[in-house]
Amino acid sequence: MKTSTITRDDSKHLKEPVKPSDTGEVQGFRHVQRTTIALDATAALSSVESLQQLLADTITLRDLYKKHHWQVAGPTFYMLHLLFDKHANEQSELVDLLAERVQTLGGVSVAMGGDVADMTLIPRPPSGREDTAAQLSRLLHAHEVILLEARAMARSTAAAGDVGTNDIIVSNVIRTGELQVWFVAQHFE
Ligand SMILES: [Fe+2]
Repeated sequence: MKTSTITRDDSKHLKEPVKPSDTGEVQGFRHVQRTTIALDATAALSSVESLQQLLADTITLRDLYKKHHWQVAGPTFYMLHLLFDKHANEQSELVDLLAERVQTLGGVSVAMGGDVADMTLIPRPPSGREDTAAQLSRLLHAHEVILLEARAMARSTAAAGDVGTNDIIVSNVIRTGELQVWFVAQHFE
């Protein structure tokens, strides 16, 4: 974490500066609470693990789409600028679905960028701007990572009887991902 170099001069307006609370966590990141959704605890635990990975990778893909939405340039700028934003918004909806499924199963959803960066299987892009072809192939690779793990998780959640999680993975994550891949891949002939 960086330390701010800005000095405060508002002490006359505030009683005292607001500080983050240090009361600690009430549920650890790896702890999965028992729930009353009539789902086997072992199945819930394994689904939470899968969902956390999928969540970290989906947040990364969403951010990758936003990065390219901002940084795309060239003759296809406007078309890709709009397409990347549409896909980012759709991935954002998946992020919310996955995070709330983790919570529903008693887990604590991964949320912040630093934690996501530690967990994701998608390679970190450079901070600078890439050309359009590199942006498109980077997106296709990220989709492939997610689709591969999502299909494996679809099989394992179905086998464990967690059909609710299975439905989100198949109906939302896989089908949205496959459709987005089609739109992105059509830019290569
Ligand atoms: Fe925008």
